[in-house]
Amino acid sequence: MYYSEEILDQVRTANDIVDVIGQSVQLKRAGSNYVGLCPFHNEKTPSFSVSRPKQMYYCFGCHKGGNVITFVEEYNNMNFLEAVGFLAERAGIRLPEREITDAERQSRDERTKLLEVNRLAGTYYYCSLRSPAGRSGLEYLEKRGLSQETMKAFALGFAPKTPSDGLYRYMKSKGISDDLLRRSGLMNVDEKRGSMYDKFWNRVIFPILDTSSRIIGFGGRVMGDAKPKYLNSPETRVFDKSRNLYALHLARRTREDYLVLCEGYMDVISMHQAGFTNAVASLGTSLTPGHCSLLARYTRRVVLSYDSDKAGVAAAMRAIPMLQRAGITPKILRLDPYKDPDELIQALGHDAMRERLERAQNALMFEIEVTKRDYDWNDPDSKTRFFENTAGRIAALETEMERQNYIDAVCREYMVDRRQLQELVTRRLVNPLPEDSRSGSTWTEQRQSFPRQTSGFASFGTAPGQTASLQGSSSPGQSASLQGSSSPGQDVALQGGFAVGYGPDGNGSQGPGWDTVPDMDYDPAALYGYDDSGFYEDGETGEMFQAPPTATRKNRSVSVREQGDDISRRLLLNYICRYPAIFATISRFVKPEDFGDGLTGQAARVIYGQMQRKGSVDEASVLSSFPEAQDQTQIAGIFHTLDQASSGKDREKAIRETLIKVFSAAPSGDGTDLNQVIARKKQEAELRKLQIIL
Ligand code: UTP
Ligand code: MN
Repeated sequence: MYYSEEILDQVRTANDIVDVIGQSVQLKRAGSNYVGLCPFHNEKTPSFSVSRPKQMYYCFGCHKGGNVITFVEEYNNMNFLEAVGFLAERAGIRLPEREITDAERQSRDERTKLLEVNRLAGTYYYCSLRSPAGRSGLEYLEKRGLSQETMKAFALGFAPKTPSDGLYRYMKSKGISDDLLRRSGLMNVDEKRGSMYDKFWNRVIFPILDTSSRIIGFGGRVMGDAKPKYLNSPETRVFDKSRNLYALHLARRTREDYLVLCEGYMDVISMHQAGFTNAVASLGTSLTPGHCSLLARYTRRVVLSYDSDKAGVAAAMRAIPMLQRAGITPKILRLDPYKDPDELIQALGHDAMRERLERAQNALMFEIEVTKRDYDWNDPDSKTRFFENTAGRIAALETEMERQNYIDAVCREYMVDRRQLQELVTRRLVNPLPEDSRSGSTWTEQRQSFPRQTSGFASFGTAPGQTASLQGSSSPGQSASLQGSSSPGQDVALQGGFAVGYGPDGNGSQGPGWDTVPDMDYDPAALYGYDDSGFYEDGETGEMFQAPPTATRKNRSVSVREQGDDISRRLLLNYICRYPAIFATISRFVKPEDFGDGLTGQAARVIYGQMQRKGSVDEASVLSSFPEAQDQTQIAGIFHTLDQASSGKDREKAIRETLIKVFSAAPSGDGTDLNQVIARKKQEAELRKLQIIL
């Protein structure tokens, strides 16, 4: 942090968040909040909420949130200091002179310089394509069916055959130093002679732009069959291949509510030319989690349009769970008999592509279909194993509804008797053998615990969690119920390894042979009343809130128990902020250290600090103690978390339960200090009787 708290507070208070966001997002009043269409992802119904009293925004769709500074950072693609500068200027505040560190200046200058070099190179290639030296390139692109307009929209260019140092000389004429050119990735360096020559030579050039439409790198394609077919700029200070997607700067403006993820530059260009302007591609690398979270900023739905060859299918199998972890629902475009989207469009045209997009295949059905290729249908054992594998995938789904629908679909597709498949699924639900597969074990560990199942996965390296395990049903909020289980008329709900039996009255008896949830009173699902949407309006204030984060597929490495603890901690912090009057009581039992060392713990320390200093919490300033936008989003989630207690009484009870939960999860010494043990027991007894009155 380079500015003092006071200055930052001054800048924030001088820029009302509703005014600032209102300039770029159309906001409508809703209760004490304002809502609008989220500028950070594509949506048709507003889930972006801005609160004037809290001076915060939060999107219930993509979970971005923060204060006015965060908004300016995210919306304008600025860093923290740029955003503060922007807001200070907007409010006419003079910021004190700030010493920028040498490292900071160097890094900024380097990026600026590299972007300028790329811009110059882009211009050079662009003009070359349209000059006599670019004839062969132009002919090639025309032969592939691209119009002048398309070439212009993608700023396509050409690196001529002669002179072979054309770009180098052009850069020299612009006064660019050898040193900078070396770092730009645009030159090959002959170490022996110390000379430099153009990296791209006799290739058509595809400039790669970031979401702010700045050229960050290039791809170049040979016009014949030479190898390598495509050459790409190496990663530089401005070119991070795992955090950028080809054509996203165009696709982000689409009116569709999904993006199409292709493998190649030419696929994307063909798609756009055919009117599918929502197509993007990764940059000559395979898909990374970074790509997935980038996609998740714009959409919750992605159609995968990978090549139909073996490599493309394998890539799709890897991409599916990765996208799902980012909260995206992937579907798969079937291209056969064509190799890639470009070929399909060339052969069948726009309408056929539109139709295939509409009929894109469900990801799980795709995974099942691909898995089947590894089983021998003529061998009864192999066939049985295929259905066992499939049953495992179905058992991993979160809701009974989903499971039943997939059982239907699989039976239809693979001509198997419904009862038989149901039996396998039920067996997997009741008997989720591998203990370790629940706690986010690695693929290799799962392999060992699933000796009979590996054949189906081996060649495609299915991600963990898509194997036959119960991970999908381990979220505390969504209990997986079993029909046709051994105890008729009584559903067994699975909760991350614990099982509770619910009777018709919802109180339930225990399922046979299961561990019980230690504290039957504390059923988060009942307490918070989760539903699918994950967010609610508070009946009293009309404010929008989010259900506490459930232990979802996103976060496999943390145990369900730990995630449950964190949910309670965040909820308790939320209560403190909303009902400052209960702070005195709560802080008697739970100290800031009891919130752990993670982000929630850090937030607790700041919140406790503010409560003790001034008796209330200023949410927006809590956020500014976290410089990273990612952390801010997490913390913003705390302020938008709400139980769904319908009445005041319910809420008082919920607060007490949450307090008990946090208290019990807190580290309690090693049990050797007798006084400590007694004190804790006393507190525990006191807690059980505690009355919380709002
Ligand atoms: P493809 O080989 O599928 O290319 O590679 P394509 O898009 O169908 O290309 P055309 O139609 O033959 O022109 C897909 C992507 O993989 C990367 C590129 O990003 C390419 O767009 N790639 C491919 C490379 O980086 N290097 C290569 O040698 C080949
Ligand atoms: Mn192709």
